[in-house]
Amino acid sequence: MAGPDVPLCGIREVDAGHLDLHRRIDTFSRLWKLGAADDALQTSLQEVREAARGHFEIEIAVLSGYGIPARHHRQIHDGILARLDTLLEEMAARSSHQRWFAVLDEVEQIFLDHEVMEDRAFYALLTPPPQDGRLAG
Ligand SMILES: [Fe+2]
Ligand SMILES: [Fe+2]
Repeated sequence: MAGPDVPLCGIREVDAGHLDLHRRIDTFSRLWKLGAADDALQTSLQEVREAARGHFEIEIAVLSGYGIPARHHRQIHDGILARLDTLLEEMAARSSHQRWFAVLDEVEQIFLDHEVMEDRAFYALLTPPPQDGRLAG
């Protein structure tokens, strides 16, 4: 699902973060298809979670750099991280191949929905880039 489904905003750090997230989700998906052990799936999902946390920080900094109020968007990010933590805890307590598929399906949907709807909602506000070029890289 990486690539054409991920809307690009033209800001390098944000776009790179989205592509990186989807590469990590693809890895998680491939591990599941290969029947990987629980600890490998846990590690992979934890890597998705950490990539999301880092990306979210950058995204909020970019929004703030453009003077866009980001409190609501930050709350959405916090909700996503909390949901990932819950999934990680649940799978540590009890997992199965089928339950991992449900988690994979939910994680894919969480990020696709967030990028297509909530992230893209502010893309129109990000042009033109700030004159000093700080964020355009
Ligand atoms: Fe976001
Ligand atoms: Fe994002």
